[in-house]
Amino acid sequence: MAGSYKVCVVGGAGGIGQPLSMLMAMDPNVSELCVYDLTLAMVPAEGVAADLSHLNMKCKVKGYAFDKDDKAIEKAGECLTGCHLVLVPAGVPRKPGQDRKDLLNINAGIAKNIVEACAKYCPEAVVGLIVNPVNSVVPAMCEMWKKKGLNPAKIVGITTLDVVRADKFVHEMTGSPMSDIQVPVIGGHAGATILPLFSQCQVGKTLPADKIPDMDKKVQDAGTVVVAAKNGKGSATLSMAYAGARLGKAVLAGLNGEVVQECAYVASTVTDLPYFASKVTFGKQGVETVHPLGDLNEYEQGRLNALMPVLKEEIQAGLDYAKEND
Ligand code: NAI
Repeated sequence: MAGSYKVCVVGGAGGIGQPLSMLMAMDPNVSELCVYDLTLAMVPAEGVAADLSHLNMKCKVKGYAFDKDDKAIEKAGECLTGCHLVLVPAGVPRKPGQDRKDLLNINAGIAKNIVEACAKYCPEAVVGLIVNPVNSVVPAMCEMWKKKGLNPAKIVGITTLDVVRADKFVHEMTGSPMSDIQVPVIGGHAGATILPLFSQCQVGKTLPADKIPDMDKKVQDAGTVVVAAKNGKGSATLSMAYAGARLGKAVLAGLNGEVVQECAYVASTVTDLPYFASKVTFGKQGVETVHPLGDLNEYEQGRLNALMPVLKEEIQAGLDYAKEND
């Protein structure tokens, strides 16, 4: 039987937020959807909600727009109270000339307000973070969550777009049905920290060894290809919304008693790093199991060894942010 869950999309009037809100409104497990954004958003959150409220789905949709000040967190009560899942595609994309640290400071600042509001109003919710840089923002937010005595396993970094892309590229190369293709993507969610394990996919493992480095790179660079094709007018929004909804629906299916696996970037003990993307099982408590990496071939093991120090540094940047902004 379908569930009855309350979901909030924070940044719901943005490029990712609008299609993500639509896809979540279409999930039979969603009975209430809140579209939450700032008053200065391109489209008022109330307008996005009014539009979506006409879909002939059971879900009630309501919009909330807040001024960009710290007190907004106080007003978020009605919107967040009772939420089972909060998806966060809020934040700004990286601008030319801006380094990773600048982006981290801006977006972690945005995420911090939202995560603090979640801690106050819906501490049991699963919080899915799309806001970049995921590799650093997730550790920063988990540390803050832990300090409040809450369970860091509720914070999930959404890396599903890497899986979606890896699956699609294998399909394009082999012509095999999509239903046979599931490439786990582990590590992190930027550049070389993204590691698709083609050897663990029944179709992916049939790819010729000399094609693997290019396929691997194609997955790593896919976001940049979209940014270039959009000619400076945005990054991946539609495919990200699709991927974010896939993760969101998996979380809700888990809460509703199904056992669902997806890859996600979470607090982890499967490697030496405290945060890592690997296969995760969602169940009634949210993240129930973080799975070990499984067997890696020589190429993948080499890539893993190379990505660990890079990811370590990005995690540390998040931990430093949490310390500096305690
Ligand atoms: P966008 O600018 O179109 O939308 C962002 C929305 O967030 C805007 O409507 C804005 O008003 C809202 N917002 C900003 N601060 C807020 C706050 N404090 N509270 C509530 N809402 C707030 O940007 P887009 O393209 O939708 O990207 C959003 C984020 O997602 C960026 O950080 C981007 O880097 C990230 N991203 C992540 C991907 C992933 O795979 N995890 C892929 C693509 C983008």
